[in-house]
Parts: sequence; C-alpha cells; structure tokens
Amino acid sequence: MNNILPLRNFNFHLKVFLFAACTALQTRTSYTQTFYKDIAPIIHAKCTPCHRPGESAPFSLISYDDVAKRTSFIKKVIQEGYMPPWKANNEYVHFANVRSLEPSEKQLIISWIDGKKERGKAKKSKVQTPYEVSGLTRTPDLTLMAQDTFVLQGDNNERFVVFKIPFELDAPANIEAVEFVSNDKRVIHHANYAVHEVADPTIDIRAAPRLINLSDEARSLYDAYLPLKKVMTYYGGWIPGASAETYPSGIGWVLPKRGIILLTVHFGPSAIERKSISGINLFFTNQPIERTVKVVSFGSGGIGENEIRPSFFMIPANKISSYSLKVSNPSEDFSALYVWPHMHYIGKEFKAYVVTPQNDTIPLVHIPEWDFRWQELYRFKNLVKIPKGSVIHLECSYDNTADNPFNPFSPPENIFSYSDMKTTQEMMTMLLVFLPYKEGDEFVSTSQKSLRE
Ligand code: HEC
Repeated sequence: MNNILPLRNFNFHLKVFLFAACTALQTRTSYTQTFYKDIAPIIHAKCTPCHRPGESAPFSLISYDDVAKRTSFIKKVIQEGYMPPWKANNEYVHFANVRSLEPSEKQLIISWIDGKKERGKAKKSKVQTPYEVSGLTRTPDLTLMAQDTFVLQGDNNERFVVFKIPFELDAPANIEAVEFVSNDKRVIHHANYAVHEVADPTIDIRAAPRLINLSDEARSLYDAYLPLKKVMTYYGGWIPGASAETYPSGIGWVLPKRGIILLTVHFGPSAIERKSISGINLFFTNQPIERTVKVVSFGSGGIGENEIRPSFFMIPANKISSYSLKVSNPSEDFSALYVWPHMHYIGKEFKAYVVTPQNDTIPLVHIPEWDFRWQELYRFKNLVKIPKGSVIHLECSYDNTADNPFNPFSPPENIFSYSDMKTTQEMMTMLLVFLPYKEGDEFVSTSQKSLRE
C-alpha cells in the first residue's frame, strides 16, 4: 500500500475479494456430528482459502486428518478470534466478503472438537480449486509476470520491492477479472499493483530498471519510473486469502494497449533464502464495460491530506493520539462498492462514516482493533449511495506507546507521516472504490456473476 500517493490525481478501480462463503449449517443436535457432514463445509469456506497448498498459511486445513491433528490449537485460535483473521466490526457494517465465523459455526466446530470428533464419510468434491473459489473455471487470457526472480535473503528483514512489468497488446482489452499470482505466497505479506498506460511510443517502457529493491537500494532509483506512471488505469492489491477480483456484469475496467505494471511486493521476514516470482493474471471479456470502476483516496496521500486534525505530520511518542478528517462530497451522487482502510503499525482504531445533507449517518467501516497484518478491501453487500453534499468522516487513533507490541521503535519515538514509503511512518488513509450513482443502485447486489465458460 505504499504507492498510494499518486491516487489523488487519478480515478480508478476496484477489486473484489471472492470468498463466496456458503455454509450450509446443520443445526439439529439429535445425531452425532461428523467432520465431513458438519465441519468440513465451514472449514472449506472459512479456512481453506488460506490454508491450502500455494496459499499463505503454514499448513493445509482440508482433510479430516489435517484438522483432527490440530483440534486443540484450532479451538484456541477460533475462541480467541485470531482465526479466521477478520478485523471489521460486523455490527457496524456487515460486509459481503465477511470471513469471520458466525457464532453458530464457531459453536459447531467447538462441540465437534469437544465431542467424539467423528470423521464421517468424505464427499466427492470437497475442496474447490482457486479458480472455482473465484467463480473462474478458465485460464487467464494474459499473464504478466515480473521479468526477474527475486532472491529474498534469509536475514529476517522485511522488504519492499517494486517490479516493473512492461506490456504491449494489439488492442485494448476489457477486463472482467484479475488476480495476483506468485510461486510462494508464504513469503509475501501483501502486494499492490498499478496499471499505467504509456501511450506515447517515444517513451521506452523497457528502459527503466526491471525491479527496485526499496529496502536495500537508494530510494531515488524509483524516480526512473516517474515518466512511466503519469496515467493510471487500475490499482489493485492482494492480501493473504484473497483470490481473483471479478466485477459484476457490465462493470470493470479497460487494459490499455501499451504500458507498464508497477507491482510492489511487501516481503515478510524470512530466516532462510527464498526465491520469489510474481505477476498478474488477466481475464478478458467481449462484453462492453458500461460502467468503469474508479478509486479515490482520502487522508494521507489523498484528498484532505492537509485537513487532518490535529496535524498528522508527527504522532508523538508515548501517547495514544486521535485524529479526524472531514471531506465533503460536493459534486455528484456516487455509489460505493468497496472500502479499504489503511494505517501502519501503530494504528489502533479506524472508523469511517458519511453524514448526508439530511443528517442521516451512513456507516462505512469500523476496525475496533487495527492489525497491520490483516488488511482487507471490504465489499458492501449492496452498492452504497453517497449523496451529493454529504460529508465523509474519518476518525482514527494511534497507539505510539511501548504497550503496542507492533510499535516499530523501542523505546517509542515520534512517528512521522510525510512520506508513505516506509512502514515505520504512518498513514491515515481510506480508499473507496466507486461508480457515479445510477437510480436504483442501492438495490444492486455486489455479488459476483459466475465467470464460467
Ligand atoms: C486470510 C487467510 C487465513 C484464513 C481465512 C485462515 N487462516 Fe489460519 N493462518 C493464516 C496465516 C497466514 C497463518 C500463519 C501466520 C499467523 O499465525 O499469523 C495462520 C495460522 C493459523 C494457525 C496457527 C496459529 C499460530 O499461532 O501459529 C491456526 C491453528 C489456524 N491458522 C487455524 C485457522 C482456522 C481454523 C481457520 C478457519 C476457521 C483459519 N485459520 C483461517 C491465514 C489464514
């Protein structure tokens, strides 16, 4: 999320997380619960998207054996609410891509663990492939991979690396889905990618460095990319557990003929050397894109950056500090699809809402206990109308004390926000993925169409 800054100048686009978590719950208690009948559907919907080969979690949770040998551990993490990771307050806004366990699901798993842990009969197709999870059953039309494998040193340091991926097509392409791909997602904390159009043929899209290691090399090297990133058409990201982003019918974005992708990968610390190669899969559609999704950024790096009160320039050490921002929406009615709150390590609480000219409050998102490790693009169930003349409110607090286990400094130091490249600085940012409002949008479900061929 460190290349958010340019967003203020551009409009773009959306992403979709697709855990269509459909869990059919058996609530009768008069028979013995079994893994395959009662528990597996919950595990497969709420755990397996991350706990499977090639994904981010350290072990698979798919079969009876996978789960049975870790039951006390699983009971602990679900009771504590540590797993599945989901930080939004569901009472404030219940998002479409919610992945927390319902109380009844939690109860069912715990009573199975506390009971006989019966296995039951395995059903035929238990676990979906990643493509099935996203509703995609076909291979991508275009894969744009980084040009180099990155060798991550085994020195336990986190790293930010930007990969420049040039592309040239015969014609622009309508995009109905996009996904981040990587050979080993366990080493990746999160990734963002910006698609930049470079229409001017005199600008060489291959000239600038193929990758820049922002953590070990001079930051000024990044300047070589500036001429290439004047026009942004899309901005997306990946966090553990996210699968392909797909768009409702008629909604999406258009990949230009020529340009670059700047893919920023945040590598987590690793004790051993690892090789990593990442890229983007694109799925084309012949259907016209009638409504282009756009992204707007509020707060640091975006609209209202200098209106955060009190001044957000420096967050003092040894204190919990609160900040607020009000931004009005003067121009037009719009419809929000997604909200993406963003802070760094000392973030403590994040709340955003809209107050309409009629004084109605529309909740957007509330993260009561911010956790840098589990960020999310939250998808509203239906499009949310934000009327012209509304005021968007952000209220955020930061814990810059020694009690915050994620504080990057020990003892605490004043933390600044004048540059957003480093995670040791702070941000107070909210991205909204939106469209101009159309009559009836409030009733439009954001659930994905199936992209089966
Ligand atoms: C969004 C991805 C994601 C989902 C969904 C998810 N996990 Fe995890 N899980 C992880 C990652 C990544 C780790 C390892 C890093 C960590 O522990 O923070 C992990 C670790 C664990 C651990 C080990 C914890 C530890 O302290 O080492 C257990 C047990 C676990 N998960 C169980 C579950 C169960 C049960 C579910 C479903 C109810 C689930 N997870 C859903 C990503 C996920």
